[in-house]
Amino acid sequence: MRTIVLKEEAQPSTSTIYCGEGAFLSELPRCIQDFGQKFIFTDSNVERLWGAHIRKVLGDVPVFVMPAGEEHKTEETLFALLKAMAEAGLHRTSCLVMIGGGVVGDVGGLAAALYMRGIACFQVPTTLLAQVDSSVGGKTAIDFMGVKNLVGAFNQPKAVFADPCFLSTLPPREVRCGIGEMVKHGALSEELFEKLLLRRKELASLAVPVDLIADNIAFKASVVAEDAKESGLRKCLNLGHTTAHALELALKTRSHGECVLLGTIFEAELARRREKCDESYLGELTALCREVLGGIPALPAPAVWTPLALLDKKNTEKDAVVITAPVGRGTYRLIALPFAEYAREAEEIQAKLC
Ligand SMILES: NC(=O)c1ccc[n+]([C@@H]2O[C@H](COP(=O)([O-])OP(=O)(O)OC[C@H]3O[C@@H](n4cnc5c(N)ncnc54)[C@H](O)[C@@H]3O)[C@@H](O)[C@H]2O)c1
Ligand SMILES: [Zn+2]
Repeated sequence: MRTIVLKEEAQPSTSTIYCGEGAFLSELPRCIQDFGQKFIFTDSNVERLWGAHIRKVLGDVPVFVMPAGEEHKTEETLFALLKAMAEAGLHRTSCLVMIGGGVVGDVGGLAAALYMRGIACFQVPTTLLAQVDSSVGGKTAIDFMGVKNLVGAFNQPKAVFADPCFLSTLPPREVRCGIGEMVKHGALSEELFEKLLLRRKELASLAVPVDLIADNIAFKASVVAEDAKESGLRKCLNLGHTTAHALELALKTRSHGECVLLGTIFEAELARRREKCDESYLGELTALCREVLGGIPALPAPAVWTPLALLDKKNTEKDAVVITAPVGRGTYRLIALPFAEYAREAEEIQAKLC
């Protein structure tokens, strides 16, 4: 069991992340035992696959089950959860236990921040993406008026329990999705990159080593500890994401993490064309992305997806696209380029890739 303590600058409280076998079975019951009333929030898939096990571990605790999927990360779900919490009579000394992927963590964390102006919450991430990424850092949100994560708050869970047992039921698509974010972390940390390269065969076959999950959590926690409110350093976590979001909107059938791998390949090449880069490193990084992707999928025409990059939140000027691109081992650069240039180069890169 690895224990990672996340302490934000200027914040008295800490958030502890337990990572390893037994995190759910042993650590969670111990950590929540002193809270008066407990309430579980999960989604329909996790309930179907893990509901019986959850009740065996946590006993007869009231549960609210949301329908699974990003399309339910809405105000309806948030308020239905708050209503269920109020009906169960939760008060200030109660705690909410969120058991699920990033959607459950984001909606539950926001509900915990809002209920009685804030009650304690604990997160049990059950997808690989939630374990290595979304459960670390205290960002919570719902999608609102068609905009992803428009309404949210920063709210650190008291503790996170990243237990690999849950990954045994995860569909391959969701495993690859989480690996996409692990590779992104590798592009930001030299040490992590070396470890990913050593385990590339396992990653390509979607067998994720538990120690790598803990290393990824520790890396993200170290970034968040320095910049909890995303005023600077934390923005590095957007590496590859401008292009990834555009591809994700256009492709629909590919997971977020797969689009992050594709976005990293595109943005590495964009960086190579205009900055002094470590060429052999970028070669290694993009080869790793390709290996984990299992080849480059068919992509829509560049004219269809490149305009979607203009929607990215990092863009500060009209008709300009900002990317967070890898340039060397553990180093990245923010590059702003006029849309016409981005579109032209993305077209050339795509023609070479596919
Ligand atoms: N808060 C943050 O910092 C942060 C960071 C990254 C992503 N996010 C958010 O996270 C969400 C994506 O997270 P996600 O990929 O976990 O999506 P998700 O929560 O929708 O889970 C993906 C699918 O896996 C299912 N599932 C969950 N656990 C399972 C298990 N153990 N076995 C089988 N199926 C299981 C879910 O029901 C769902 O169908 C997005 O809404 C994104 O905005 C938040
Ligand atoms: Zn991402």
